[in-house]
Amino acid sequence: MGILTAGGDSPGLNAAIRGVGKSVQGHYRMQLIGFRDGFRGLMENRSMRLDGERLSGILTLGGTILGTSRDKPQRMLVDGKPADMTETIVRHYREHRLDVLICLGGGGTQKNALHLKQQGLNIITLPKTIDNDVACTDTSFGFDTALGIATEAIDRLHSTAHSHHRIIVVEIMGHRAGWLALGAGIAGGADVILLPEIPYDIQRVAEAIRQRVRHGKSFSIVAVAEGARSLEQAAQIRDLEEQKLHARNKKQKRRAKQRLAELEADHLGNHTVQLSEQLERLTGLESRVTILGHVQRGGAPSAADRLLATRLGSACADLVAREQYGVMVAAAGEQAVPVPLEEVAGRRKLVPPDHPWIISAKRVGTSLGD
Ligand code: F6P
Repeated sequence: MGILTAGGDSPGLNAAIRGVGKSVQGHYRMQLIGFRDGFRGLMENRSMRLDGERLSGILTLGGTILGTSRDKPQRMLVDGKPADMTETIVRHYREHRLDVLICLGGGGTQKNALHLKQQGLNIITLPKTIDNDVACTDTSFGFDTALGIATEAIDRLHSTAHSHHRIIVVEIMGHRAGWLALGAGIAGGADVILLPEIPYDIQRVAEAIRQRVRHGKSFSIVAVAEGARSLEQAAQIRDLEEQKLHARNKKQKRRAKQRLAELEADHLGNHTVQLSEQLERLTGLESRVTILGHVQRGGAPSAADRLLATRLGSACADLVAREQYGVMVAAAGEQAVPVPLEEVAGRRKLVPPDHPWIISAKRVGTSLGD
C-alpha cells in the first residue's frame, strides 16, 4: 500500500497515517510505503518505508511526517512550466506494485484522487482539513484542533479589547467556508461573526457595535472568516461569475476568470484591515486587527482529532482488506462509511443559512451582519 498527504497540512495527519499503518500491519499484515510531499513525491518517486518503528510516537505530532504540497497530477510545475504528470504517477504506482494508494487531503485532494481513480488506480481517501468543507462527511480531522485554537484566541482578545474599549477584528481561516469562524465565534462569544455564506451589510455591523455601546459595552469582538464579503463585494463577484458563465468567446472567459482571481487575491490581503478601518469610522471606537493565520493549523492535534483520525484510519484498513476502492472514508455519526469519490469531488460543504449553529448564534444576540 502507498500513502500520501496532500494540500495544506492539518493536525491529525500523523494520527491518521498511524491509524492506517498500524491497522494494516498489525491486523492485516500488509506493507505500507509513504510518498513524500503529496502527489509530487509520487511523481518524483520519493518514498519512505513506514514500518512499525516509524509509526511509533507520531500520534500526537502536528504537521505530517511525509511532508505535503498543493501539487496536482494534471498540472505540476516541472522545470518552471506546468505539465500533466499523470502518466509518470501511474507508472510509479505500477512500479511499486501497489494494491492501493491512500490519499489524505481536503477538497483539492479528493478531485486529484478521482482523476487517478479514472486512470484505473485503486484509491481510498480520508477527509482532512481545518476548514471542515469536505462534502459528504460530518467532519474532517484538523477542524476540532483549529476550532480550539481560534476559540482560545478570541478568549484572550476579550480581556485586551475590554480594557482598551476597542473593537478587535479577528480574522479566522476557512477558505470559502465559514465553519471555523462560526464555531469559534460562538464558542468564544464574539459579538459579530461574518461568514462567506452570508454577505454582510457594513451599516448593520456598525449599528450592532453602537448598540452595545448604548448598553454600556464599550468593546466588541468581530470574528471574520477570511472569505467573508460585504454585500457590494458579493454582488461584484456574482457579476463576474455571470460574465464567465455567459462569455461569448475564450478571451472574454479568460478575462473574467483573471479578474475573479485578482479580486480574490486583493480580498485576502486587504479585506480585514479595510473592515476594521470602516468600523472605526462608523462607530468612533478604536479598532485593531488580529490575523490568526497558520497558527490555527500548527501544533498537536486535539483529543477529538486524534480519535477521529484513528477511527477513519482503521476503517480505511478494513476497506483495503475488502478491496473496496474508489471511495472516501467519511465520518457519519459514530460510523465510518465509504462514499464514492464521484460524489465527493468538486463539491464543497458550506454553512447552510438555516444551520442550527446560525440559529443559535442569532438567538444569543450575535450579529451576523445581515
Ligand atoms: O485549506 C486550509 C487552509 O488553511 C485555508 O483555511 C486557507 O485559506 C489556506 O489553507 C491557506 O493556504 P496556504 O497554507 O497555502 O497559505
